[in-house]
Amino acid sequence: MTDMQRDANRGVGEGFSSTATDYDAVLRHNFDGARRLVASLPDRPYERLLDVGCGTGMSTVIMLERFPQIRRVIGVDLSDGMLDVFRGRQGELPGVELDIRHGDVMDMGVEPESVDVVISSMAMHWFPDKPGAAARMAEPLAPGGVMGILCSGTGGDQEYREVMAALDPPAPPEWDATFDFALRDVDQMEDYLLDAGLEPIDIWMERRIRHTTPEAYMERMRVVAGHVTSHLTTEELDDYSRRILEGMEAVSGPRGFRYTFNKLYAVAQKPE
Ligand SMILES: C[S@@+](CC[C@H](N)C(=O)[O-])C[C@H]1O[C@@H](n2cnc3c(N)ncnc32)[C@H](O)[C@@H]1O
Repeated sequence: MTDMQRDANRGVGEGFSSTATDYDAVLRHNFDGARRLVASLPDRPYERLLDVGCGTGMSTVIMLERFPQIRRVIGVDLSDGMLDVFRGRQGELPGVELDIRHGDVMDMGVEPESVDVVISSMAMHWFPDKPGAAARMAEPLAPGGVMGILCSGTGGDQEYREVMAALDPPAPPEWDATFDFALRDVDQMEDYLLDAGLEPIDIWMERRIRHTTPEAYMERMRVVAGHVTSHLTTEELDDYSRRILEGMEAVSGPRGFRYTFNKLYAVAQKPE
């Protein structure tokens, strides 16, 4: 990992830690997506789960709802704050051996071929080396094991990017660049999985049009992307937020701010 990637990761971990206790309440759409991902996995008797970028552990809980035979869970995440919330969930996972690890997807320390299923829900868009991460997540899978990934997809949040592009003075260019860094399409995901030695089963994009208040939209951004603005002073951030909210209100209709949100799903398996 380069120094730049290490710094970026530190920012991501600290950003998510600073908002960890708000995450479950604000990011309900992420759990709806995790449910659709989990519902799409092949019906098999998985016992050992690896949850990468596990955050507060909601996707693990959703996995256990569908696959109650899971007995061992390894959760890996960069954010201590998110992991603290996950630790508090042990009561929702009776009989499960929970191994929660602070770490990067590129260095999880999980034994090769030691798990039956890997999930990573709404985390891969933050991984700096996405093909490398797919390969690392595939390594711990036993032959015939299954991997399910959900992340943000290309084309999402375009309306917000347009509001930012119209600001005068402009928003820092790295804010817009973050979307290009993060978002991927189905064919790119297919390449990552094939290069990781997996057999893709199903890869698809879900395109949604949502209406919300500008304030609710900005609250989501605060909770999931705090690291993108962490270099600003409180005054600078307040000023940008105020001007972005004005820009969003100017283009909002009677049902609020209309925006596109694309979710990229992938299910693959390791050859037997
Ligand atoms: C939006 S949250 C998703 C959490 C959870 N999977 C869920 O479905 O609610 C993204 C999580 O990915 C973690 N993350 C980001 N980059 C990571 C990396 N390189 N390695 C491990 N975890 C990472 C963040 O710390 C954060 O907890």
